[in-house]
Amino acid sequence: MDLSGKHIVLGLTGGIACYKAAELCRALVKEGATVQVVMTEAASQFITPVTMQALSNRPVYASQWDAREGNNMAHINLSREADAILIAPCSADFMAKLAQGRADELLSLMCLARPMGAVPLLIAPAMNREMWAHPATQRNVAQLQADGGVVLGVGSGDQACGETGDGRMLEPQELLQDVIAFFQPKVLVGQQVLVTAGPTFEAIDPVRGITNLSSGKMGFAIARAAQEAGAQVTLVAGPVSLPTPRGVHRVDVKSASNMLLASMEYAQAASIFIATAAVADWRPAQASDQKIKKDGSGETPQLAFVENQDILATVAQLARARSGELFCVGFAAESHDLLAHATAKRIKKGVPLLVGNIGPATFGQDDNALLLVDASGAKEMPRNSKLALARALVSEIASRLPVVSP
Ligand SMILES: Cc1cc2nc3c(=O)[nH]c(=O)nc-3n(C[C@H](O)[C@H](O)[C@H](O)COP(=O)(O)O)c2cc1C
Repeated sequence: MDLSGKHIVLGLTGGIACYKAAELCRALVKEGATVQVVMTEAASQFITPVTMQALSNRPVYASQWDAREGNNMAHINLSREADAILIAPCSADFMAKLAQGRADELLSLMCLARPMGAVPLLIAPAMNREMWAHPATQRNVAQLQADGGVVLGVGSGDQACGETGDGRMLEPQELLQDVIAFFQPKVLVGQQVLVTAGPTFEAIDPVRGITNLSSGKMGFAIARAAQEAGAQVTLVAGPVSLPTPRGVHRVDVKSASNMLLASMEYAQAASIFIATAAVADWRPAQASDQKIKKDGSGETPQLAFVENQDILATVAQLARARSGELFCVGFAAESHDLLAHATAKRIKKGVPLLVGNIGPATFGQDDNALLLVDASGAKEMPRNSKLALARALVSEIASRLPVVSP
C-alpha cells in the first residue's frame, strides 16, 4: 500500500464536491493512510460529519473550541501529527482565507499554525468556472503557491450549477495518485523522460496483423514512476488499452515504424530514454490494401518479411551524437539464459543499462522480476509489483546520471 504509515489531515470546505471527499477518504484509507477529517461549518452543510467519521474511523473536528483535546488546542495537535494536510474540496472563500493568513475557525487556524517545513499543504480547489477564472481567485492561487502550498489543479467539464468549464474538483482517484506521487522521492526533477511501451502491430492487410503478448504494463508503470519522481514524461505507446498515468504525455502508435518516428522526434529533447516496448523485429514486406480473401482453392498466402529498424540502437546512436546527454535504457524480454542475453544485448545496442526480464513471466502480469546489467555487472531485482520495480528502476537510473555541476 502506497500510503502505509502516512497520516493525512483531510480538510473539507463548503462546496458540492464534498460528496467526492467521502470517496477520497475511503481511497486514502484503502492505500494505508490514517485520515483525520477536519470540516468547516459550511462543509457540514454539504456532507455530514457522521459520514466522514464512519469512513475515516475517527471523530471529526469542526471547531477550534473543541474541548476533547486536553490542552484545548486541536489546531496545534492535529497539525503536528500530520504528514500532510489536504484540503479537498477547497472553496474559493477558503483559498482567500489561506492567502490572507486568516484564522477565525479551526481549519484555517490549523493551516496557519502548521510547521511549514514539516507539514506540506495540498489544495484541491472546487468551484464554479467563473469563480475559478476570477482574477481574485487566480491571485490567491499564485499567492498560495508562493507561500509553499501545492495547488493540485482543477478538472474541466460539467459543473453542478449546470455550466461547463474549469473548476471541478479532480476526481478522488486522481487526487489519490497526486498524493501518492507527492510522497515519492523527487530524483528526476528537471529530466525529460521518453518511455516506449506495449507491443507493436504490423499490418498484413486492413483487418489482420502480427503483434505480440506485451501488455504495456511495465512501461506504463515506469512512465508513472518517472513522473512521480518529478520528470516530464512522454510515453510512446503501442496498441494497448491501459489508462494514461497522471501527468504523462501519451503518444499512441501502431507499427514499429510509427514508434521509431515518434521516438526519434521526442528523443531530440529527452535526457533519458527507456525502451520497454516489445517491438516487432519484422513486418510483412507488403501490407495488402484490401483484405486478403480465402478463394476456396486451399492455397495459403505466402508472407515475405522485412526487418524493422532497431529503435533502441537508433536512439542510442543519437545519444552518442549528443555526447552522453541522453541516457539510454534498453529492455530485453527473453525466454531463457537471461544474464547472457541481456549482457550481449547491452553491448550490441551500445547502451549503458540493459534490463532483462523473462517474457512469459511478465507479459500481461501485474508483477515481474528484473535483472539490471551495466558495465560493472548484474543486479537482480526480485519479483515485485511492476510499480514497485519501476520506482526502484527509476532510482537506479537517477543514480547513474552524470552529475551536472551548477
Ligand atoms: C449550494 C451551494 C454550493 C456551493 N458550492 C461551492 C463550490 O463548489 N465552491 C466554492 O468555492 N463555493 C461554493 N459555495 C459557496 C461556499 O459554500 C461559501 O463561500 C462558504 O462560505 C464557504 O465556506 P468555507 O470556505 O468556510 O467552507 C456554494 C454555496 C452554496 C449555497
